[in-house]
Amino acid sequence: MQFTVAIDGPAAAGKGTIGRALAARFGFAHLDTGLLYRAVGAKGGDPVLAAQSLTAEDLARDDLRSMAAGEAASRVAAIPQVRAALLDFQRVFARRLGGAVLDGRDIGTVICPNAEVKLFVTATAQIRAHRRWLELGGDEGQILADVIARDARDMGRSDAPLRAADDAVTLDTSDLPIEAALARAVAEVEAKLPKSQG
Ligand code: CDP
Repeated sequence: MQFTVAIDGPAAAGKGTIGRALAARFGFAHLDTGLLYRAVGAKGGDPVLAAQSLTAEDLARDDLRSMAAGEAASRVAAIPQVRAALLDFQRVFARRLGGAVLDGRDIGTVICPNAEVKLFVTATAQIRAHRRWLELGGDEGQILADVIARDARDMGRSDAPLRAADDAVTLDTSDLPIEAALARAVAEVEAKLPKSQG
């Protein structure tokens, strides 16, 4: 069975948590596509060459989750040739047999416009910055400023800007506990799964 769940949304909205939980629940493979851009940014040198020659080792670096790596990722992510170099890998992953969940910024709009399920996970910038601060520590005011700047860059770029696909279901997690958001996501998947799988 091929079955794709596309999850998009701004930084620290809960895409990864929902994506991992859906994958575990339905036995789907999960790809955090942000990690690809983080690895390209962290590699340094020419970002287009870095994207074209990305290896499993690059993706296993332990410094990819930092705020600095997120910032570098959003800079290289605005380069069309970088996005083009990462496209096929993501599309092949999405159509693998057994089902796949991909989370990122352009999965429902560009990478998998025909995904069976599209979710747009969001929350206010303040709440997202607070969550990131709980994860990483540091100066919460600075994290909020970084989150706002990164969202503006992701939404403002001309190639594959962050936006909800017209047919995406929006989950605003500002006031919704993660369990409730996940329950809604599970219901969306169950409604679309072929009956023999449900
Ligand atoms: O974890 P967080 O939501 O903060 O970020 P991420 O998903 O790891 O993505 C890091 C950066 O990569 C984003 O700010 C985007 O600029 C870029 N990205 C993208 O352009 N397209 C994707 N499909 C995924 C990430």
